[in-house]
Amino acid sequence: MTKTDLHKDKNIFPKNFYWGASTASHQVEGGTVNQWSEWELAHAAELAKTARQRLAHDVADWSSIKVQAQDPNNYVSGKGVDHYRRYGEDFDIAKKMSLNAFRFGIEWSRIEPEPGVWDEEAIAHYHDYIDELKARGLEPFLNIWHWTMPTWFTDMGGLEKQNNLRYWRRFVQKIADEYGAKLKYVITINEPNVYATFSYITREWVPQVRKPITFMRVYYNLVLAHRQAYRILKKKNPKIQVGIATQLANMQAKRPHNVFDEFATSWMRYVWNWWFVNRIRRTQDFVGFNYYFTDYYRGFRRVNPSTPLNDLGWYMEPRGLYPLLTRVWAHYKKPIFITENGTADSNDIYRKWWIEETIVAMERAISEGVDLRGYFHWSLLDNFEWKYGWWPKFGLVSVDREHGMKRTIRPSALWFSQKIKTLSKED
Ligand code: BGC
Repeated sequence: MTKTDLHKDKNIFPKNFYWGASTASHQVEGGTVNQWSEWELAHAAELAKTARQRLAHDVADWSSIKVQAQDPNNYVSGKGVDHYRRYGEDFDIAKKMSLNAFRFGIEWSRIEPEPGVWDEEAIAHYHDYIDELKARGLEPFLNIWHWTMPTWFTDMGGLEKQNNLRYWRRFVQKIADEYGAKLKYVITINEPNVYATFSYITREWVPQVRKPITFMRVYYNLVLAHRQAYRILKKKNPKIQVGIATQLANMQAKRPHNVFDEFATSWMRYVWNWWFVNRIRRTQDFVGFNYYFTDYYRGFRRVNPSTPLNDLGWYMEPRGLYPLLTRVWAHYKKPIFITENGTADSNDIYRKWWIEETIVAMERAISEGVDLRGYFHWSLLDNFEWKYGWWPKFGLVSVDREHGMKRTIRPSALWFSQKIKTLSKED
């Protein structure tokens, strides 16, 4: 049966399936002041200067990005894409694209700019934000923490100190008190595995240190942070569905008959994919995960095919979502949400293919009994890509930051929205 036949035969997606897009406060809002924004200002000049040596070998086409990558402004989130003010317009676009759900981040540094001091305007802002989503029939999926923190918190050691979790609990309690009654879904933490590893081992994320012991401490504190948040939220509103958005990779042995490749693959799967989720088994109502990567291991060396690559030089295998979905289901037997998925594709030449393959992978998993409840594309809008800055384009909607932040729906997204319409039709 071809994939087209599959579509024609029967719509396999459950009736209430959530078709959404995902964002994160720091990457789109503009005007955020946190440990990342400070780091950007301190490092922009150096990042621009070292761009060639850092990126030229990895990215798909250095010549097409070099002007941007060598411009210090590229590395400053600054005005973002002005989503903090234009959220109404952005939700209209999401609605027009037939989406029925939206994942967004709350910016801790806005809500609690000083320890224990709540910013009433920021709190009111997110109230309105949630209300506006609901008014358009977009189910809000609130994400509490997507890596950014107020500087007063990181100055005192942030997540490196277990004792500091009392500030986290106070913040989560505030979120629960304010928004708990109006939300059905909350994601506590985005990609704890990426955050801990990139920040404390590979030195890619702020604070860019290599400290294995601190890494373990932070990673474990994130387990505790999630569990605590779960309890606080459930106490406030037992009906809220709470989970995380971890990053899972489809890891495969390069030579499946080779014992070293098999061993390395199983080890990596455990350490990267399952370690964290295993620890929160009893404190999650669903498993949320972000899928971007299929990786082949030869021993512990990653040896991916050299094509097709996205703009960031990432090997793309969208159908790799399928084995991951079946594994997650087999491990945890909980409803699943794909909380992020997408690709950096400024010319919009791969995105349609990526989404189509993804839909086929989801259909296949659902038809085999996997309880998949929703799909959130990363991202609705072009956004600030952390240490890469502005040049990678993940948006279903492009944003022209040079010309009044103009939003334009990309052709692949138009196609996607048609597809959603077809898939949402009753049989
Ligand atoms: C993160 C996003 C990021 C995306 C694309 C995910 O790991 O959660 O913040 O923009 O990947 O790089």
